[in-house]
Amino acid sequence: MSLASAVRPLVLGIESSCDDTACALVDGDGRVLASVVSSQVAAHAEFGGVVPEIASREHLANWSAVERRAFAAAGIALADVDVVAATRAPGLVGSLLVGLSIGRALAWARELPFHAVHHLEGHVFSPFLGVGGEPAAPIPERFVALVVSGGHTSLYRIDGEAISTLAETRDDAFGEAFDKLGKKLGLAYPQGPKLDLVAERGEPRRRPLSRLAGTAELFFSYSGLKTQAVLELERLAAAGIVPAPDDPRGERLPGELADLAAGFRDSAVRQVLDRLARLHRREPFTTLAVSGGAAANRELRRRLPAWAAERGVELRLVPLVYSGDNAAMIAFAALRRERRGETDDPLAAAAASRAAIEAPA
Ligand code: KG4
Ligand code: ZN
Repeated sequence: MSLASAVRPLVLGIESSCDDTACALVDGDGRVLASVVSSQVAAHAEFGGVVPEIASREHLANWSAVERRAFAAAGIALADVDVVAATRAPGLVGSLLVGLSIGRALAWARELPFHAVHHLEGHVFSPFLGVGGEPAAPIPERFVALVVSGGHTSLYRIDGEAISTLAETRDDAFGEAFDKLGKKLGLAYPQGPKLDLVAERGEPRRRPLSRLAGTAELFFSYSGLKTQAVLELERLAAAGIVPAPDDPRGERLPGELADLAAGFRDSAVRQVLDRLARLHRREPFTTLAVSGGAAANRELRRRLPAWAAERGVELRLVPLVYSGDNAAMIAFAALRRERRGETDDPLAAAAASRAAIEAPA
């Protein structure tokens, strides 16, 4: 891909809402020219989770190298950029401020259009991005989006320009529950993907956990399921079945604990499918776009295609490279806004730790 064959506008995306420092360049057809993500896992590992103050400092320290790598990979210069976009909310406010301030400054200094993007809007459209440098797939006028991450388990309805929230979690998010149970099993941060791998070795039917039942509502809830799993863990511990010491990947976990992980994952995924089915019965939809860090979950990825095929729903599962936080999704969401003629004032855009997807910048 050369600059000559790229379609204008060229969008620079910046994402720093949590513990990934990311920079991407996306062209006017939604082609990802470069997407660089620098993980802070090593910096937070000894604390078992993200330490906000460390995250902000890491973003500052890592940005220059991440930006340089993205421009080198895309083979373009800063002077070629037409539009600047950065994540404004939700996330850790100190982390958001780093990327947002860089984006605001770049846009203001170069007099370029600026977009302060909601992080979840980035996830919502990420399943349409291509992985081989091809243009993004066309975004349908109407679809339902499921975002499963460490902070969110949400259903959205996209109808033309409008995005509205249909359901959220009442307590823990899908990925958060995996992280917390994984921590109890002695797994290292980030625990979600490791617990998923442990569950691959288990048999869910040997240690089933119940689902949230008895309601016709759409909301998600994962803290009850997590508590059930923790109580089961305590019963097993009383019987002498405990995680092996110093086993950060769970490779030596006893079979009973792998079964528990599998039972937990099965129930967590069933809850997602159950809510999708409720929504589909109530207001049928034809396209479902699934995204977010926890959309990497193996069981979820295995079961969603059959769920969708049974109902004639077209499924767009986010490519694994764009499931976790990245800046390509931020640039792509900004491109959609740019095409609609919207922009944000780089001098006024503010970072916010919490903000509904419907809330204006
Ligand atoms: O979207 P993301 O990178 O950051 C947020 O916006 O939260 O999602 C990260 C979350 C973490 O909770 C992580 O443990 C979880 O996604 N996650 C998984 C898997 N891979 C990542 N949870 C379950 N199974 C996985 N395979
Ligand atoms: Zn995210």
